[in-house]
Amino acid sequence: MVLELTRPVVQAPMAGGPSTPALAAAVSEAGGLGFLAAGYRTPEAVRDDVRAVRGMTGARVGVNVFLPGPRADDEAVRRYAAELRAEADRWGVELGDPRYDDDDAWEAKVAVCVEERVPVVSFTFGLPRPDVVATLHDAGALVLVTVTTPEEAVAARDVGADALVVQGVEAGGHRGGFRDDDGAGEYGLLALLRLVARAADLPMVAAGGLVDGPSVAAVLVAGAEAAQLGTAFLACPEAGTSPAHREALTAVGATALTRAFSGRRARGLVNRFLTEHSAAAPSAYPQVHHLTTPLRAAARAAGDAGGVNMWAGQAHRLVEPLPAGELVRRLDDDARAALARVRR
Ligand SMILES: Cc1cc2nc3c(=O)[nH]c(=O)nc-3n(C[C@H](O)[C@H](O)[C@H](O)COP(=O)(O)O)c2cc1C
Repeated sequence: MVLELTRPVVQAPMAGGPSTPALAAAVSEAGGLGFLAAGYRTPEAVRDDVRAVRGMTGARVGVNVFLPGPRADDEAVRRYAAELRAEADRWGVELGDPRYDDDDAWEAKVAVCVEERVPVVSFTFGLPRPDVVATLHDAGALVLVTVTTPEEAVAARDVGADALVVQGVEAGGHRGGFRDDDGAGEYGLLALLRLVARAADLPMVAAGGLVDGPSVAAVLVAGAEAAQLGTAFLACPEAGTSPAHREALTAVGATALTRAFSGRRARGLVNRFLTEHSAAAPSAYPQVHHLTTPLRAAARAAGDAGGVNMWAGQAHRLVEPLPAGELVRRLDDDARAALARVRR
């Protein structure tokens, strides 16, 4: 049990607002593992978050770092920008500057984790270099890598990862694997857990579509050491989830994978923007993310659920708006009860 959790629940890092120090602290205080999201934040803001958490709890809290991918073709971004002009006119805003960047200096965020002695660091969107993993190990951190295929799991093991966040296609938010692929051959969580267990033999944290105790129990039986839940924590009062997003979570509605908002495939609630722009959106992260930032901000300010990205996993409609600590205890208790009911 490399994570040494009292309760087998990890709160997924959720960049873009939902992850707050208060959410992470409450989860860790309850015996799970809370995460801060470094994605889209400056290194200074990450340091502030880490220190804010320390003021709230003595329990361990992790930090999640986005790794940059390859730079996409600018022409594809220009074509998509032309399509989005009408959206900009609708809100009376300019489209954002579709710049390519390294998530505001990801290496500086790793340096913050080292300096602040963050105990658990997870990576998303890529494979950290072995020297980055070694530096974190020297600072006493556990290193987790998000994987979506057995091949990525083997690669993560080979750079020295201590554990894997195994993300199934059910998951809300971005696909966390190493490439923004075309989706062919994508794995559901249960199949992926077993394939990864045989391929890489590392502790696994399972993610994707888990929102209640029985689903947590299922992934423990399938070999995971803990379950990482995102959507379930979006509904907690400590989360920074927008009101429109919160409200839409419990509605009966489909989710779909889309590049429309960010240029990288992510699962969200189907809404107007997703429906109208998914077909044209190129694989160009983070350029498209920056391009649509003013559109999303305008729609959010207007409370328009049709124009914002509302990331959610497939089981979203089962979420309950409980305080985070209570949710962690409930998930653990219900998982135990579900395991006790299993007939052999
Ligand atoms: C709103 C939202 C934001 C997310 N942001 C991140 C992130 O910053 N880093 C990351 O590794 N995963 C992120 N994820 C994905 C989660 O780590 C996890 O894989 C996913 O939430 C699991 O599926 P579930 O939402 O059905 O529980 C995000 C998910 C959601 C719903």
